[in-house]
Amino acid sequence: MEDKPVISIKNLWAGYEADTILEDISFEMFQNDYVGLIGPNGGGKTTLIRVILGLLKPDKGTISVMGQEPVRGRRHIGYVSQFQVEDKHFPISVWDVVALGRLQPNLLQNFHIRPYDKEVIELALQQTGMFEYRKRTMNELSGGQRQRIYISRALAAEPKILLLDEPTSSVDSQSSNQIYNLLAELNDHIAILLISHDLTAISTYVKTIGCVNRQLIYQGNKELTADMVEIGYGCPVDLIAHGLPHRVIAGHQHEDHHD
Ligand SMILES: Nc1ncnc2c1ncn2[C@@H]1O[C@H](COP(=O)(O)OP(=O)(O)OP(=O)(O)O)[C@@H](O)[C@H]1O
Ligand SMILES: [Mg+2]
Repeated sequence: MEDKPVISIKNLWAGYEADTILEDISFEMFQNDYVGLIGPNGGGKTTLIRVILGLLKPDKGTISVMGQEPVRGRRHIGYVSQFQVEDKHFPISVWDVVALGRLQPNLLQNFHIRPYDKEVIELALQQTGMFEYRKRTMNELSGGQRQRIYISRALAAEPKILLLDEPTSSVDSQSSNQIYNLLAELNDHIAILLISHDLTAISTYVKTIGCVNRQLIYQGNKELTADMVEIGYGCPVDLIAHGLPHRVIAGHQHEDHHD
């Protein structure tokens, strides 16, 4: 099981019209992985997620999700996007938002909630601590609570892979710890790719770290390398600025450390 990647990307280039954003990305992710992706604003993290979801076609290179093209493989992905289409003014209930996670796009018509669907939806709401809010409408929730509902919706799809793009950006520290603890538990059977600017969370919870700034630096370990600093500025430099332990930063192999 462990030997087949859940996501496999080889020499991939992608962007918008003439604007190349991702350059020669190669990346493999396996079922037990929990990868944290960092990188400066505009570096291409969300673009990479779009390629993985089959929403953006690469210009060059190959990508597979669960051994299939992204448009087919993405049914195994639970996705929490960076910015949500605002449900704020639309009186849809929390329960229904999570129930949408059970839908396959081709089943949009004649969708019935079967007893099993109900169980999955309930569990997904319990996992984010939002079950008691199930009868509310989305406009009756805070931003952080809404975010937890979107995580529930992603879980309702019973994914093999979770892609989370800044899932805790509007969530308070207690709720985000709860979410990160939940993700750690889910990683028992779900591969997780987490994009975050929260470097404390990244360095605490994920198993391996990558940095995206047009290129991807990913060595399958948890060290922020000097290479990442070179291509990434925004990211590891933040880490240093925030005074987190220097031991996370690895120097070039043959250079002295000056800290
Ligand atoms: N639909 C689009 N059309 C054209 N350019 C786009 C589009 N979406 C994003 N871009 C550009 O692609 C680049 C990468 O954007 P992307 O959203 O992938 O960055 P990011 O790493 O997710 O940044 P952030 O940390 O701010 O979320 C940016 O320069 C952005 O302006
Ligand atoms: Mg982004």
